[in-house]
Amino acid sequence: MYETPELDDDVLVRTHEIRVHDTEAFEGMRAAGKLVAQALDMITEFAVPGITTQEIDDRIREFTLDHGALPACLGYKGYEKTVCTSINHVVCHGIPGDRVLKEGDVVNIDHTVIVDGWHGDSSRMYAIGEINTRARKLIDVTYDSLEAGLAMVKPGNTFGDIGWAIQQVVEANRMSVVRDFCGHGIGRLFHDSPNVLHYGRRGEGAVLKTGMFFTIEPMVNLGKPHVKVLSDGWTAVTRDKSLSAQCEHTVGVTEDGVELFTASPAGLFRPKF
Ligand code: MF3
Ligand code: CO
Ligand code: CO
Repeated sequence: MYETPELDDDVLVRTHEIRVHDTEAFEGMRAAGKLVAQALDMITEFAVPGITTQEIDDRIREFTLDHGALPACLGYKGYEKTVCTSINHVVCHGIPGDRVLKEGDVVNIDHTVIVDGWHGDSSRMYAIGEINTRARKLIDVTYDSLEAGLAMVKPGNTFGDIGWAIQQVVEANRMSVVRDFCGHGIGRLFHDSPNVLHYGRRGEGAVLKTGMFFTIEPMVNLGKPHVKVLSDGWTAVTRDKSLSAQCEHTVGVTEDGVELFTASPAGLFRPKF
């Protein structure tokens, strides 16, 4: 004889359903979002010619641990670093290492922390020294597309509205949205339902409800949207070697719109050229 185990309906598994969180969860996400933003603020002064991506990883890991948080990427599906550092034609998931950043590089640093069980996930672009006009334009369009997506976040709108708004901005500038990676639900789970696409049609997809938490993290290429993953199993690059940029916020849906959990306390989210 055995007793049927009680099934907890709030276990940490991803299902097709989109979770709706309570007030306490918002408090948890505020703390996690603030810490990841502070880590990305902290690294700004070090994102200069001569630094290696490994030094960036070390500084962010130490900062995170010193603040009593856990680096979510470290050990995640076998990933061995704290952050992703995606340089120039690297779309996402670039692995920190010996590479020395040089004048003219554009780098995305993507970091996720866990604070009291809640995940804060954010990434930004960093311009290394002086960057050229095309690179600036790409970064501007990428940030503008994220803002257009964020502007669609309110109860009653759909995930398709978010993707549509991002795609409009990118394609109006003759750039392309990467299709192979998307944003995601987030909370006590790092990657929860739904997949948040950065392209789409107005009115399609799930309806946004107060209490949903997710990331929006558009990847934008100057050339074609196609990517390939290198033999390290992580590094995604543009197939045509064109420049790529990304930025990411973790947000919550509120009664009157959106709460940005990962806003920069120092006002450094968008790089200044
Ligand atoms: N932070 C990334 C995201 O935005 C995930 C990186 S997964 C890792 O979802 F394993 F590479 F860390
Ligand atoms: Co993310
Ligand atoms: Co991220």
